[in-house]
Amino acid sequence: MEKWDQQTIENFRKDLLHWYDKEGRNHLPWRKNTDPYRVLVSELMLQQTRVDTVITYFNRFMTALPTVQDLAKAPEEQVLKLWEGLGYYSRARNLHRAAKVVAFDLKGAWPKSYEDLLTLPGVGPYTAAAVASIAFHQVVPAIDGNFFRVFSRLLKIDDDIAKPKTRRVFYEAVAPIVDPKRPGDFNQAIMDLGTSYMKTTDPDTLHSPVLTYNAAYRDGVEDQYPVKTKKKKPILQRYQALVRYNEEGDLLYEKRPQTGLLADFWTLPLRPIASIEELEGVQLTVKPITHVFSHRKWEIWPVQVEDTGKLADNQRFFSADEQAALALPKVQHKILQELKES
Ligand code: ADE
Repeated sequence: MEKWDQQTIENFRKDLLHWYDKEGRNHLPWRKNTDPYRVLVSELMLQQTRVDTVITYFNRFMTALPTVQDLAKAPEEQVLKLWEGLGYYSRARNLHRAAKVVAFDLKGAWPKSYEDLLTLPGVGPYTAAAVASIAFHQVVPAIDGNFFRVFSRLLKIDDDIAKPKTRRVFYEAVAPIVDPKRPGDFNQAIMDLGTSYMKTTDPDTLHSPVLTYNAAYRDGVEDQYPVKTKKKKPILQRYQALVRYNEEGDLLYEKRPQTGLLADFWTLPLRPIASIEELEGVQLTVKPITHVFSHRKWEIWPVQVEDTGKLADNQRFFSADEQAALALPKVQHKILQELKES
């Protein structure tokens, strides 16, 4: 691993921020000001989706719920609806809980330090550091995938970024490099670098504003960084989805259990099957609908079943209008789309 002397550190900050001021993505809506609420919402959204997609969601969210008090008072259903399509709904629920803590318990007085921000529901090390540095000028590195990539190359850090303990290595190595006067801009400049000149595939290293600091490039081994062991493949789970209409043409849904994947959401009744030989109704598609979660892959076969049998407590028919008003998980949208097309 490279170790920079103080002069190199200062030169690096200067070159990085000079580039950021000229060519950084200043137009991003969450960079308009450093309101902690806007920073928190944008950072949570950015953890699951590309910047382009987040812009739309973020603007919509801020229009509907412009302050942390508005979010704290909003019904959960509205929050989930605004989040719909971003995935990982637990993040939206936690954001909602965090807003209640700030607005009600703390009477609007935000936690400002990295450690205090960590106590908010759903706020992990990356998010706490991002909010602390951007909104409250705390000098901490915000370590996400971009950050690992950029500094593993610049400093030739050989530790496996798939291992949790590696975060500490990066923290120790980079904390002294973060600009004490502009920590938030420093972190956001690294994000911009990590998605442009130093992106994962096809980096344009030669034109990078920090080329002279890149030890991996200097040694001709840039493509070997970051070091990362492969994730295990997600486990395949196969289901049949029961498609049952009543006489009015309403569709039967089932509320999922309070814990586990897609907790508390409405989906078509899903029944595990070992193979498609076990399908019990009229098979509606030739191919399954698939959806990948972080550790599981669902393969779903919709089958039409007759409208007989009593409804369970967690089952209900919904009209088309009711379905449109519900916050439905992405996988359920995929099923509806497939039903429309078949
Ligand atoms: N990715 C994560 N946080 C970001 C931010 N503040 N700006 C741009 N991309 C990001």
